[in-house]
Amino acid sequence: MDHPFLERIEAGLRAAIESRNLAPTLDEAARYALLGGGKRLRPILAIQSCIAAGGSPADAMPAAVSLECVHAFSLVHDDLPALDNDDLRRGRATVHREFEESTAILVGDALQCIAAEVALESPRNTTRIVKEILEATRLMIDGQAYDTEGIFPADVTDEESRLRLMHRLKTGALIRAACRCGALAAEAEENVLQRLDRFGAAVGLMFQIVDDVLDETQTTAHLGKTGGKDRASGKRTFPGIVGLDSSRAEIARLAETARDELIPIGPNADPLRELVEYLVMRTN
Ligand code: IPE
Ligand code: IPE
Ligand code: MG
Ligand code: MG
Ligand code: MG
Repeated sequence: MDHPFLERIEAGLRAAIESRNLAPTLDEAARYALLGGGKRLRPILAIQSCIAAGGSPADAMPAAVSLECVHAFSLVHDDLPALDNDDLRRGRATVHREFEESTAILVGDALQCIAAEVALESPRNTTRIVKEILEATRLMIDGQAYDTEGIFPADVTDEESRLRLMHRLKTGALIRAACRCGALAAEAEENVLQRLDRFGAAVGLMFQIVDDVLDETQTTAHLGKTGGKDRASGKRTFPGIVGLDSSRAEIARLAETARDELIPIGPNADPLRELVEYLVMRTN
C-alpha cells in the first residue's frame, strides 16, 4: 500500500527499536519482525483518524508506532508452532524459523513492552491512550485464546456468534483501538470519538473476514503467507461457517456501516473512506 505517511511510520518504527539497546540476537530478530514490510494498516488508521478529528500526524505518531509493535508481537506469536505453526510471513521465513523459537517468544515479549513505552510518549491524552492500547492488547490475546483453545463462554453457543466474538477480539480490538487512539490524540469531541470507535469496530471485523476469504482464495506466493491453511488446519473462519458468498456480503455490509459513520465528520475523513475501499478490494 502506498501512503503519504508511510515513510514517517517506518522511521518511527526504526527509532522504537534502535533506542532500546536490546541484546544482540533479540535486537536482530526484533528488527526482522518489526521492519520487514507489512501494510502498516494500524498506524495509518491511527494517523488518519487523528486527522479526521482535527489533529496532526505528529499527535498520533507514538500511538501509531505502539500499535504496530503490538501487531508485530501478535504475528510473531501467532506463527509459533504452538499456535498456527506457520513458516512464512510477509514473504519471508517466520521469526521462529529464521531464528530460534525461544528468540521468537522473547521478541514478542519485548515488542509488547516497547509498545507501552512508546505509547507513553503521546503528547495528549497520554494515560487514556496507553490504557486503550493495553486493553486492546489483552482483548487480542483473549481472541487468540478462543482461536487456539476453541473453548467459549457458556452463553455463546452458536458457531456464528463464537466466530464473531473471536474475530472482534483477535483482530478487531487493535484496529478499533487505532481509530480510538487517533481520536484521543486529537482530543476529539465525544461524538467524533464515538463515530471513529464504531468505524473502527466495523473495519476491524471486516478486516479479519477479508483475511479469512483471502486465505481461501489466494495463493501462498501472492499472500506472502501460507494460503489454504485455515481449512487445512480446521480453523473457525467466516467462509468455513457461512460460505464465501455470505462472507463477501458481510464485508460489503460492514464497509457501508464504516463509511456511514464518516459522513458527518466531513472532508477530513476522506482518506479513511478511501482506506475502506482499499481494504475491501485488497488481495493480500
Ligand atoms: C494479518 O494482519 C493478521 C491479521 C490480523 C488478519 P495484516 O494483514 O495487517 O498483516 P501485515 O502487517 O500487513 O503483514
Ligand atoms: C490473526 O489471525 C490474528 C492475530 C495475529 C492476532 P490469523 O492467524 O488469521 O492471521 P494470519 O492469517 O496468520 O496473518
Ligand atoms: Mg491465528
Ligand atoms: Mg495465523
Ligand atoms: Mg488468517
